Amino acid sequence: MKKRVYSGIRATGRLHLGNYLGAVKGMLALQDEYECIFSVVDLHTITVPYDPSTLQNSIREIIIDYLAVGLDPKKCHLEIQSKVPQHTELAYFLSTIYPVSRLEDLPTYKDKKAQYPKYVNMGLLYYPVLMAADVLLYKGELVPVGIDQEPHLEVMREIARKFNSMFGPVFPQPQRFKTEGEYIPSLLGSGKMSKSVEGSYINLTDNSEEIRKKIRSVPTATTSGGEMTEGTKVLFKLLEFFAKDKTAQFMKEYDDGTLQFVKLKDYLADAIFAHLKPIQGKRQEFLENPKLVDEIIKDGISKCTVMAEETMRQVRQKMGFVGK
Ligand code: AMP
Ligand code: TRP
Repeated sequence: MKKRVYSGIRATGRLHLGNYLGAVKGMLALQDEYECIFSVVDLHTITVPYDPSTLQNSIREIIIDYLAVGLDPKKCHLEIQSKVPQHTELAYFLSTIYPVSRLEDLPTYKDKKAQYPKYVNMGLLYYPVLMAADVLLYKGELVPVGIDQEPHLEVMREIARKFNSMFGPVFPQPQRFKTEGEYIPSLLGSGKMSKSVEGSYINLTDNSEEIRKKIRSVPTATTSGGEMTEGTKVLFKLLEFFAKDKTAQFMKEYDDGTLQFVKLKDYLADAIFAHLKPIQGKRQEFLENPKLVDEIIKDGISKCTVMAEETMRQVRQKMGFVGK
């Protein structure tokens, strides 16, 4: 049997370059070789304030982004988490074997508590348990995600080990599939690129002017040479992904003190747009073919449900929920 891969992205707006380089590039690399399930994790989306009236649209946008970047439904299964209710069933079972204190200590929980002090809900605490259930439901062994998700993967492995030792071997211990873009910094020059920080990101749907404007605003320095500012580091990091062949030349100019930042910025902006343009074209094609997208979603969910139910039958049996 092929190894299984699982990853998911929350339905909180468009994908940005951080998601693309940190997670999606890994998904693309794995879909040829493994049995992959790539999900829109809508149940994880609602642990922070959200708008129910736009949720369905946001879910669909991520599915369309997935298709546009080249995830191929012939090679992988696309899933919408809430449409496979076995996720919540398994999450509940797993929650009974994991200590609350460990969850309270997680950096992601603490960050969200600080970010939304009036919205500290049970779902937020439960988030890593549901995430563990997402991957374990499919016995996923590889998880292409950014480095920020590593603490969640540790929880996942702990839960898998504990379940196996209490009830018998069912689950593998999933590992993060690392990508070169596992940490993409913010365009603002501090912290990571993130949907929740305005000005920090470039969306996959941004046009050439938007990209140019955002890249031009990256804080650099008046002269080049010497220790790099965080903003300058971001530019060089992105250059590595989108115009690798030019990096050495710009770096030499930087070291010589002759680099004109605006030249580097405009070159980079054009290179990013050149990369995104075909993705945007494909996105448009899927937008114009809603029936095809509906079918892909339906097919993904039905295949995933079969796999999920197979694991759940085992779990219910091991945990004593099946009579003789
Ligand atoms: P999120 O938007 O938080 O749901 O993240 C979706 C995926 O993108 C996860 O695998 C994250 O680890 C990844 N990701 C988000 N931001 C970044 C970033 N700045 N650098 C690398 N990966 C990221
Ligand atoms: N926590 C992930 C994020 O914020 C999203 C996620 C939920 C996920 N369930 C998952 C990622 C399972 C990989 C596998 O990006």
